[in-house]
Amino acid sequence: MNSSSLVQIAPSILSADFARLAEEIKKVEAGGADLLHIDVMDGHFVPNITIGPPVVNSIKKITHLPLDVHLMIENPDDYIEDFARAGSDILTIHQETCYHLHRNIQEIQEKGMKAGVALNPATPLQVLECILPEIDQVVIMSVNPGFGGQKFIFSTLEKIKALHNMIIVENFKAKILVDGGIKLDNCLRVAQAGADIIVVGSGIFHTPDPTKTVVEIKQIISP
Ligand code: DX5
Ligand code: ZN
Repeated sequence: MNSSSLVQIAPSILSADFARLAEEIKKVEAGGADLLHIDVMDGHFVPNITIGPPVVNSIKKITHLPLDVHLMIENPDDYIEDFARAGSDILTIHQETCYHLHRNIQEIQEKGMKAGVALNPATPLQVLECILPEIDQVVIMSVNPGFGGQKFIFSTLEKIKALHNMIIVENFKAKILVDGGIKLDNCLRVAQAGADIIVVGSGIFHTPDPTKTVVEIKQIISP
């Protein structure tokens, strides 16, 4: 678990009812959600299509939660300005989609957002070596990105531990966010491995009472 033992929860709206999005967001707010995770997919980098800046902009108007926007798109640099204007607080891009990661990270931060870098399950931590001092968040994917409701890849736990050590040793500011396949029954292991924030999608919105589920997960990860 991270040094403060306060692990945050970021519900992913990917598994919410999009026709009732405002109500769904109110449910997780009521449970004490810390951030809202918004998955943006383009049908190219990942085999699914979701939402874009107009929806982020609408969500911004109905919630006080910080918006953690996860871009699973090719050429993310073409859209940094749009997502900044839409009200994103944290913007994460995938290392696998960027030729000029430093430039993109600088642009995100210059536009007033926190900058995150996401790694697919098969991408090693070594690719972060030259960028880790600069970034605000690392997103460790614990499923292959593209869909909610997939099975957690357990080898990710060792990757989280190794990244946690890298950050502690150098005293970097980057937070570790873990995304994919996390539910009530495995959230403690993810928190104990060193996550600062866990993303939970289907594990919240596909339960009968999402508010109660957020409360229960929080009790486990941040007792
Ligand atoms: C997967 C997305 C995740 C997804 C997680 O590509 O990045 O944020 O919503 O959903 P669950 O918690 O259902 O795995
Ligand atoms: Zn995500």
